[in-house]
Amino acid sequence: MSVFVTRRIPQVGLDRLREHGIEFEIGQPDDERPLARSSLLAGVRRHEVLLSLLTERIDREVLAANPRLRGVSNMAVGVDNIDLVAARELGIPVGNTPDVLTSATADLTWALLLAAARRVVEAHAFMVAGRYDLWGPELLCGVDVGPGVTGRRKTLGIVGFGRIGAAVAQRARGFEMEVLASGTEASRARIDAAPDVEACRFEDLLERSDFVSVHVPLTEATRHMFGADAFRRMKRQAVFVNTSRGPVVDEAALATALTGGEIAAAGLDVYEHEPRMVPELRDLTNVVCLPHIGSATVDTRDRMATMAADNAVRFLTSAE
Ligand code: DGY
Repeated sequence: MSVFVTRRIPQVGLDRLREHGIEFEIGQPDDERPLARSSLLAGVRRHEVLLSLLTERIDREVLAANPRLRGVSNMAVGVDNIDLVAARELGIPVGNTPDVLTSATADLTWALLLAAARRVVEAHAFMVAGRYDLWGPELLCGVDVGPGVTGRRKTLGIVGFGRIGAAVAQRARGFEMEVLASGTEASRARIDAAPDVEACRFEDLLERSDFVSVHVPLTEATRHMFGADAFRRMKRQAVFVNTSRGPVVDEAALATALTGGEIAAAGLDVYEHEPRMVPELRDLTNVVCLPHIGSATVDTRDRMATMAADNAVRFLTSAE
């Protein structure tokens, strides 16, 4: 009984498997390189549990490659890289790593929101390029996140109100923001329970918000939910932030909206065709782009690896 760990995970996760006396093989030990599809299929055939990352597509072919497969433990909260329908049909349980990354991802959402609003990355580039010769009253002015001197409370629209959306809302209190939230029926109870959060239709949220932050899982219902129409509805001064999944956004439409001034700025951690982003975004100064680091703190990644290992152990031991 053993685990195929598709790529190297934090040491604590591997130690956890060892503590339980479980053997494992790491498919791709080089952090800089993806796991080849052929190696994924071969690895699945050799082991009873798969410990995967969001970089691997775990489709029906992979799931069916080994009739002895006891489970897939994904080291991520999102499971859109896994064909859940096929897993259910084949009776293969799927595990993920919720909760442990909520704070880190909510924090990074705020880092992006603040950076985009206050032009932090643009200002850094200006500084290190040696362009700062003279302080000026209009040098690199951004927009207020809090009420600022005008006293107008800003509105944050949170699309998708799961754990991370709720944690983002909680952090908005410090900025005295009005918070709107839209989500599925399932998230309605969470919205109603959150203090000072107003449930709102998606379209109304877009029209009323100064900042829009996305926290939905990627499903067929959410794919491209932010397209040309959504960006057109948003305020021209709006800042858009996405730390969920790239394909929720039509990235070409976003680039057009940013170029044409339909919205003011964006902060992105995820991309429609990850790890690539549309080239138009590269030339814009009003977008802050990060390489999917929402959960990337040492402690969080350690907890994710431990949880993923625990799930893998559970799949193996419950099968005995
Ligand atoms: C997840 O867990 O789904 C994140 O995108 C990566 O931590």
